[in-house]
Formats: sequence, C-alpha cells, structure tokens
Amino acid sequence: MPAARKTKKPDLSLRLLAWYDIHRRVLPWRAPAGKRADPYRVWLSEIMLQQTTVQAVGAYYRKFLALWPDVKALAAAKQDEVLAAWAGLGYYARARNLHAAAKVVAGQMGGKFPTTAEALRALPGVGGYTAGAISAIAYDERQAAMDANAERVIARLYAVQTPMPKAKTELHALGSALVPDRAGDFAQALMDLGSAICTPKRPACPNCPLSADCKARKLGIQELLPVKAPKMLRPLRRGAAFVARDRSGAVLLVKRPDKGLLASMLEPPLGEWSEKFPSTAQAIKQAPFEAEWKKRPGIVRHGFTHFELETEVYVADFAKRPKFKGEWVPAEKLRSVALPTVMRKIVEHGLDEGGPLFSSRRSAR
Ligand code: ADE
Repeated sequence: MPAARKTKKPDLSLRLLAWYDIHRRVLPWRAPAGKRADPYRVWLSEIMLQQTTVQAVGAYYRKFLALWPDVKALAAAKQDEVLAAWAGLGYYARARNLHAAAKVVAGQMGGKFPTTAEALRALPGVGGYTAGAISAIAYDERQAAMDANAERVIARLYAVQTPMPKAKTELHALGSALVPDRAGDFAQALMDLGSAICTPKRPACPNCPLSADCKARKLGIQELLPVKAPKMLRPLRRGAAFVARDRSGAVLLVKRPDKGLLASMLEPPLGEWSEKFPSTAQAIKQAPFEAEWKKRPGIVRHGFTHFELETEVYVADFAKRPKFKGEWVPAEKLRSVALPTVMRKIVEHGLDEGGPLFSSRRSAR
C-alpha cells in the first residue's frame, strides 16, 4: 500500500509509545511495563476478546487461569468443564477451538506456543488478527493487531473513507507500516488510544498524541470514520419455548443437534421457528409432552448474526418429572451450566427471574 509509506511519520509510532508508557491500561492479562507476557495468557485473553469486550472478559480470564494455570492443565480438562467455564461469553465454537488448540500445543508442540504469526495461525480458532496480536504481544514480532479500536485510529489517521469491512485490508497495511520495535506495546497502545481517546463518538482529539498527523481531524470528519457497513436487514423468526420445572426447581434442558447453530449446546425444548408466533393451541402441539402449559407475558428477543429471534415462553410445573430425553438441571446449577445466552434468557423469562439466578448477563448474542 504505497499510501502507507508516503504518509508515515518517523516519530509518530514513538510518540504513541511514549503516550502508552504513561497512560497504558492495567489489564489482567498484561505483563508489567518492560516485561514480556506469558504466551499462554496472551493467547487465552485474545481468544476471549474476540467479539467480547475487555470489561466482560476480565472475570472469565481470571476464572480460567485459576482453573487451568497453564496450557497443559487446560489440555487435560474435560470439554464439558471448559464449556461450562465459558458459559456466558457466547460463541461456544471459540471455547471448543480453545480446548482443541490447547491439546495441540500441549501435545504435538511439547507445551510451547509457536512464536510467529504464521505458525500460530495453524492453531484452531486463531485467525489473522489473533495470530498477529499474540505474536506481537508475546514475542514482539513486527505484526499489526488491528482490532476495532486500532482500525478506528488508523482509519482516522489516514482519513480512509472506504466503508467497512472492505477497508480492513487497507487499514491493516497502513497499520503494519507503522509497527516499531516494541511491536507488542505498539499493538496495545493503538487499542488503548482507540478505547480512551479516539473513541467512536466525540473523540478527545486535544489529548491525542497523534492529532497533529490526523488527516480526518484536518478535514473535520473524524466522527464519520470509519465508514460503517450498510446495516444488514436480518430476517425475523418467531417460535415457542417450553420451560418445564419440577418441585425442586430443576429445569429440563435438552441437547441441540451436533451440527449447525449452537451445535451440541443445551436448551429448553423449543418449537418450530417461522414468520409468525404459533397460536397457543399450535404451540401446545409443539410442546415436548402434555402438561398445563401457561404462556408467560412478554417475549424474549435475541439477535443472531444472520437473523433475529423472538420467542414466547410456555411454562409448566411438575410434581413428577415426565419421561423425556434430556437433563433436569437443578436450580443451583443453572448458573454454571453451559447454556447459550439466548437460552439463558429464555429460561430466565420462564422462571420469571429478574437476573440474580444468572450472574453473567451481557449483551445479546
Ligand atoms: N482487544 C483485543 N485484544 C486486546 C488486548 N490485548 N488489550 C486490550 N484490548 C484488546
């Protein structure tokens, strides 16, 4: 990308590093200033931070480290334990890949993580961004780690007006051209600048160490960049869910098919999804077994990547558990069981819980 070379200022990266040395965030996975981070910790945090906020990740990161302090311990864990510890972080494929990658590193690689982005990419769940972030942060390989914060900074610095996600390649090239020797600190400095100063709305340009070089600021268009992708209209699907509860408060959960959406995850029995909600009579025909199903007022909404889901929730209490292929999960275990967020919301709605039963509430996913 010739534009990157032309517009590069030799001292720009060093100014950002000087800013970082003073303003760097203290984050649980970060090594103290001047120290290299443990690759296991960097990898674990980067997988958790894929599509999840720094704020939401902290408690999970600490829990994983307490349960599995190194890659061998994680590799030796049972998959169900890993999924249960992951419950609430969403996108369970990430947890499965995390476990699979731990097995590869602990087994074939003798417990040592690869040291280059190229080799890291061979691990399950490690894509281009994550490989760059790990190799830069853990090994100071000159790699750009362009998360959304870093992309925003670079888009503004060079006034890139190509809409996202098309702009990604260009932003990556522009970011890569700036990476100095302290590649790990530089990667995290861009992230911190994006999070604290170069924010999506009302960026604090007067406090920015790069403001003198910022093309978007010169043009007065910083708040308009990066240009968003046109909003995708997602189809709406609707259906019924059935929350069956026994006298002790245990809830019936069943396993989803082992392929496709939320593969192998637990859920309360669900009816079919279509354009319209079923009438109560239709819903009751879709129920897993006969009972006095009562519809709860309200609906549960959830946004998946490719569609929106609205669910009406039917509940029934049982003195004696009806026979059905599934698992009656005791009330006190509902919090720790690996239940996707959407299913957690449905069960919560069925039990009329305002939230305390489920501590890990987070953005819809
Ligand atoms: N987002 C992704 N990786 C991150 C990191 N290492 N620090 C802060 N935010 C991040």
